[in-house]
Amino acid sequence: MKRMCVTGTGSYLPEKILTNKDLEKIVDTSDEWIATRTGIRERHIAAEGEHTSDLATEAARRAMTMAGVVAEDIDLIIVATVTGDFNWPATACLVQANLQATRAFAFDISAACSGFLYGLSVADNYIKTGSAKKVLLIGAEVFSRIVDWTDRGTCILFGDGAGAVVLEASDGDRGMLSCHLHADGSCWPLLYQMGQGSRNPADSSASEGHNPFVQMQGNEVFKVAVRSLCDAGEEALAANDMNAGDVDLLIPHQANRRILEATAKRLKVPLEKVMVNVDRVGNTSAASIAIALDEAHRAGRVKQDDILLLNAFGGGFTWGAALFRW
Ligand code: ACO
Repeated sequence: MKRMCVTGTGSYLPEKILTNKDLEKIVDTSDEWIATRTGIRERHIAAEGEHTSDLATEAARRAMTMAGVVAEDIDLIIVATVTGDFNWPATACLVQANLQATRAFAFDISAACSGFLYGLSVADNYIKTGSAKKVLLIGAEVFSRIVDWTDRGTCILFGDGAGAVVLEASDGDRGMLSCHLHADGSCWPLLYQMGQGSRNPADSSASEGHNPFVQMQGNEVFKVAVRSLCDAGEEALAANDMNAGDVDLLIPHQANRRILEATAKRLKVPLEKVMVNVDRVGNTSAASIAIALDEAHRAGRVKQDDILLLNAFGGGFTWGAALFRW
């Protein structure tokens, strides 16, 4: 049976680092509060003039180099993002142009922090049906442009970055074993960004009551996130007749160290088998799992035949899990 395999990983983090100490100068917070409540110590911030498509393109180039593929080989480019360059065209189209991947069709996926998992599922279907042979899947975000830098409840959490994978079919039992996705749209008011759209037409964006920034009820998000991440992880393991003991590496969406630890504990995966980089990159939304996967891969933490469990939760609400035999 053909399975979808990752043949290359890449990531890109902007050069500029914003530490918790830097944030102390911007909002009423402290390094101690942020580190204790979130585990985050610093995050990367895109430079002026550096856009989501630029981050995505760089991460993609690195993944393509590892996979040994060139732009003309790519059939499909998917970018998971909620902070694309524009409302439209899709950031994936801008990446296609940057790479000169002229054969590729391209579109974005909007599933917030679960976007990379949603992208894996979509890519898997294209690859299994044979309608795309080489897929470039990128998670990329520039959240620094949509957070309110006077709101200490949100601006401390997010960072900018991009991660990418090249996906191809391979024979044998290695590759993505299954992917399980969920959504609950009734919870959207707990986490969203209004932006511009049919509820906020172009001619009303300056009107009173319009808030262009990320809106979040952190406490509520926290509770649902842990439960959903665990449920999805257990679902993926059960679907493959596995249990926590089979997992070699858990790569969760990097939202917050407390969420990661609570999830690992409930899933019964020991912390040494959990990939954590939230301390250095913060919450990079759809880019988070892709960046963590690339870092783990390049650090030699992912070996052939390892079982990898990926899980994510985000705005929508959306959540899910994917299981790989590497
Ligand atoms: N610095 C100092 N104090 C702060 C800060 C800050 N940056 N932010 C909030 N506080 C204060 C609050 O004002 C409040 O003060 P009060 O008691 O005087 O009213 C106090 O700290 C406690 O606030 P809570 O919101 O209850 O703090 P909590 O322990 O819930 O931590 C946090 C807040 C970190 C946002 C947490 O709720 C969380 O991580 N939630 C998950 C949100 C998340 O990860 N969102 C990302 C998108 S979804 C995803 O990726 C999974």
